[in-house]
Amino acid sequence: MAAVLMDGKLLSEELCLEQKQRVLALREMGKKVTLSVVLVGNDPASATYVRNKQLACEKLGIEGSTVMLPEGISQQELENKLDALCEDEAIDGVLLQLPLPKGLDEESALAHITPEKDVDGFHALNQGKLFSGTDGVVACTPKGVIHMLKRYQVPLCGKHAVVVGRSNIVGKPCALLLLKENCTVTVCHSRTENLADITRQADILVAAVGKAKMITADMVKEGAAVVDVGINRVDGRLCGDVDFDAVKEKAGYISPVPGGVGKMTVAMLMDNVIGAAEKRMKK
Ligand code: GUN
Repeated sequence: MAAVLMDGKLLSEELCLEQKQRVLALREMGKKVTLSVVLVGNDPASATYVRNKQLACEKLGIEGSTVMLPEGISQQELENKLDALCEDEAIDGVLLQLPLPKGLDEESALAHITPEKDVDGFHALNQGKLFSGTDGVVACTPKGVIHMLKRYQVPLCGKHAVVVGRSNIVGKPCALLLLKENCTVTVCHSRTENLADITRQADILVAAVGKAKMITADMVKEGAAVVDVGINRVDGRLCGDVDFDAVKEKAGYISPVPGGVGKMTVAMLMDNVIGAAEKRMKK
């Protein structure tokens, strides 16, 4: 394999040691760190993600709890529940697992998680802070992408970063964070013409489309850093948006799926939860 493997599992274990110390330091000051995850309905993939978040909390000594709500819950009931969790002094972070079942308005529900407890960085105020480059809570997956690139010392300043995908959760925040690192950023999406011509110019290529193996070796510049944010299931197996086996022979750096960005997302969530607790402690 030509490329350096950007190992999310290894990085998350490294972060775990440091995070445990931060949780312990708060404990010694009499402060427990707590996260409340809200899961609506019975989507099996969401249930797996929530379980992983819960396990990560346990590993660090964070008190994680999951509030399970039925699929048929009304918008009002869901928002009342989120309001109550945000008003609860004992809780540091509140996370609403997405996607919500059909019929529920995600944007309206997310507005009921106060910016201070919004450990996902999805509240409009936190998104606005990212837009203006001021300090706020940054969404976990984009934050994990940048952490990974920096930890592997991938040069960013002045480099051309191409983000494929324009979602509010990954593509757009990733582009803003890369801009903050002084990259020249291009955002591509499903309507982009001549996609391969653009991806071939990328020193850093972030694939966040949700289409299995759509980034093929001919779309990648020799030596590029390729970050795969995709999580797709093909014949029961997880795979990313990048054709890993072929691209790893051409790229300079590559993240695998599983064991790449997914691990970083959970690690950054823990970082945001501990950060929220530390901020509340200072107040
Ligand atoms: N669903 C998929 N990714 C995420 C995430 O990062 N946060 C939440 N809350 N839901 C998700």
